[in-house]
Amino acid sequence: SDQSAFDTDVWTLTRFIIETGRQAKGATGELTQLINAILTAVKAISCAVRKAGLAHLQGLAGSVNVTGDDVKKLDVLSNVLMINMLQASYGSCCMVSEENKELIVTPKDKRGKYVVCFDPLDGSSNIDCLASIGTIFAIYKRVTDGEPTDKDALQAGNNIVCAGYTLYGSATLMAISTGAGLNFFTLDPAIGEFILTERNVKIKQRGKIYSLNEGYAKYFHPSINEYLEHKKYPEDGSSPYGARYVGSMVSDIHRTIAYGGIFMYPANEKSPKGKLRLLYECNPIAFLIEQAGGLASTGFQRVLDIQPEELHQRVPFVVGSPDDVNEFLTFVKKHQ
Ligand code: AHM
Ligand code: MG
Repeated sequence: SDQSAFDTDVWTLTRFIIETGRQAKGATGELTQLINAILTAVKAISCAVRKAGLAHLQGLAGSVNVTGDDVKKLDVLSNVLMINMLQASYGSCCMVSEENKELIVTPKDKRGKYVVCFDPLDGSSNIDCLASIGTIFAIYKRVTDGEPTDKDALQAGNNIVCAGYTLYGSATLMAISTGAGLNFFTLDPAIGEFILTERNVKIKQRGKIYSLNEGYAKYFHPSINEYLEHKKYPEDGSSPYGARYVGSMVSDIHRTIAYGGIFMYPANEKSPKGKLRLLYECNPIAFLIEQAGGLASTGFQRVLDIQPEELHQRVPFVVGSPDDVNEFLTFVKKHQ
C-alpha cells in the first residue's frame, strides 16, 4: 500500500514548543510542560465539544458562574480539565479562570513559576446551537515570592510569556505565540496531535469586514455609530464593508486574523466597560493580534499597556487590521 502521504518528519505543536524551549537561554522545560498540559486539556475539551449531544453534556449544570451567567456542563468540564491538567504539570503557581471568582492557588507540592489566566470555554451562548466556541489562555511568570497572590495575576499584557486560543470550529485549531510571531496548528484527530499548518501568520493591512453586536447601537456612543455609518455608506464611492458576527469571540477573532477587518466589543450605556474580560479574553487576543501585525485598543489605550486592578475586570475592545483600527480611532478622537 502507498504510505507516501505520511509526513515522517511532521512538525507537531509539542515538537515546536520543545524546540522553542531548547533555544531559550536558561530554559528549564517548565513552560514546555505547562503548554503540554494545556494541549492535553484542549484535546479533551475538543472531544467533549464534538460529542456533546451524545454524551448529554449540554444543558444547565444548576449553578451560576461569577458573572451571573448560567454555567453549562461543558463549561464546568472544560474548567476542571484546565485546572487539573495545569496543576498536574508542576508548572503553575496560580490561575485565574472566568469560571472562578477567586484566584486558584496550586497546592504547594505542585507549584511552578507560572501564572495562567484562561477562559476554559468562551462563547457559552453558542454551545446549544452548535456554533463554534473556544478556549483562551495567557501565561505569565510569577512576580512575588511565597504564597501566590492576586498580584501575580494582575500583570499588564506586556508581560505575557505565551498566549493562545483553541477554536473548536469545523476543525480544531490552536493559534499560539511565545512572542516570536503567531503560528496556527490544526488538530489531526487520527494521531491526536496539533500539526503546524500556518507559520508566522500576518493579518492584512486592511480588511473588508466589520464585526460587532450592532443590535446594541441604541446604547453606543455616537462615535461608534458614525464609524459604522461610514462603513455602510462610504462617502468616497468605495464598496461598503461586509458584516459578520458569530458572537463567539474566538471565532470572530480567528476570522479577523484570517481574512482581515475589525472586531469590537465597545462600551455601551448598559455596559460602560463593554463585556469582555481583560485578563483572560482581551489580553491574550491582543497579544496574538499584535504578533500578527494587527492592533488592539480600548479606543483610548493599547490593551497590553493596561495595569489590571481586578481579576475579572472588563475593558472595551477594538482589534484587527492596523488600517481599520486606526480609522476607527480617528472617529473616537473626533468626539473627544
Ligand atoms: P462568555 O464568556 O459568557 O461566553 O461571553 C463572551 C462572549 C464572547 O465570546 C463574545 O464576543 C461575546 O460574549 C458576545 O456577546 P454578545 O452576545 O453581547 O454580543
Ligand atoms: Mg468568556
